Amino acid sequence: MDKSKQRPDPNDVTVAICLNLGDVMIGTMGLHRIDLVNRVAITGSVIFKTHHRNCGYGTDAKMLLLDYAFNWLGLYKVCSSVMAFNGRSAAYSKKCGYVEEGRKRAQWFRHGKRHDDMMILCSPSSATTGSLFGKSTRKV
Ligand SMILES: CC(C)(COP(=O)(O)OP(=O)(O)OC[C@H]1O[C@@H](n2cnc3c(N)ncnc32)[C@H](O)[C@@H]1OP(=O)(O)O)[C@@H](O)C(=O)NCCC(=O)NCCS
Repeated sequence: MDKSKQRPDPNDVTVAICLNLGDVMIGTMGLHRIDLVNRVAITGSVIFKTHHRNCGYGTDAKMLLLDYAFNWLGLYKVCSSVMAFNGRSAAYSKKCGYVEEGRKRAQWFRHGKRHDDMMILCSPSSATTGSLFGKSTRKV
C-alpha cells in the first residue's frame, strides 16, 4: 500500500523528542492504543543515542506526555512494561510516578538468562507531573 495514502491512527500519538539547541531530534515517545472509552493507553519511549541517555531528557519528555495524557485527554491511567534488567528505564519511570502492578515471570531471554517483564502503570494521582511539570530535571 502507498504509505502516503495511509491515514494517521487517531488512537496513537507519537511525538519527537528534540533538543532546543540545533533542533536535533534525539528520540520518540508515544501514547499507543489510546482507548477513550476505558480511558487507558500504553506508553513507550526511546532516546536513540547512548550519549543522550541519562541526561534527564526522557524524564522531561515523559512529564509532558503524562500532562497531555491526564490533563488534556483525561485518561484514567497509562501502562507500560519494562524488562526487569533495564534499571534505567525502571528508574526513570518510577521518577515520573509509575508503580509496579505485576510481573510476567521469566518472560524475556536476554544475555543468556531469563528476566521478568515488569508491568507498570501511572495514574493522575501517582504521576509526579503536578510537582515536576515545568521544572526540568536535566543534568546538561
Ligand atoms: C529509558 C529511556 C527512555 C530513559 O530516558 P533517559 O533520558 O535516559 O532517562 P533520564 O536521564 O531522564 O533518567 C534516568 C534515570 O535512571 C537512573 N539510572 C540510570 N541507569 C540506571 C541503572 N542501571 N539502575 C538504576 N537507575 C539507573 C539515572 O540515574 C536517572 O535517575 P536520576 O535522574 O534520579 O539520577 C532511555 O534511556 C532509552 O531510550 N533507553 C533505551 C530504550 C529503552 O530502554 N526504552 C524503554 C523501554 S521500556
